[in-house]
Amino acid sequence: MNIRKMMVLICAGCISACATVKLAEPTQIDADRGSQKFSGYSLNDLNAGKKIYEANCNKCHRYKAPESRDEAKWNDIIPRMAKKAKLSSDQQELVLKYVVTMSTAKSK
Ligand code: HEC
Repeated sequence: MNIRKMMVLICAGCISACATVKLAEPTQIDADRGSQKFSGYSLNDLNAGKKIYEANCNKCHRYKAPESRDEAKWNDIIPRMAKKAKLSSDQQELVLKYVVTMSTAKSK
């Protein structure tokens, strides 16, 4: 591969990396914090919510990072967006708990 082609590839990589929101990897600490709010909440639930979010929440716009809104805002926004994304009520609940829990993640 010649050097020019390599530079082009590196630049393309940088641009696409910058365009995506980096979603924090949920940990047990996050799940424990979530379970203070949502009884019985687990790391599995948190990861399930993240999966649904990743699969549905960047179709019309880029990901809106969980830490970009607080709980009150998410309670307002998620039902609206769940309708747009045609989520089931179970999926909606998992996504809401995911964004609310991760909105207060320490890593933000
Ligand atoms: C079918 C298209 C579509 C899908 C799917 C979608 N959105 Fe949106 N979203 C929009 C549009 C259009 C707006 C801007 C208008 C508005 O706020 O309703 C928006 C706005 C937003 C906002 C800003 C709203 C505010 O008041 O600050 C957030 C946050 C958001 N979306 C999150 C999500 C999440 C989370 C999901 C996944 C559950 C999602 N969106 C899925 C179309 C979509």
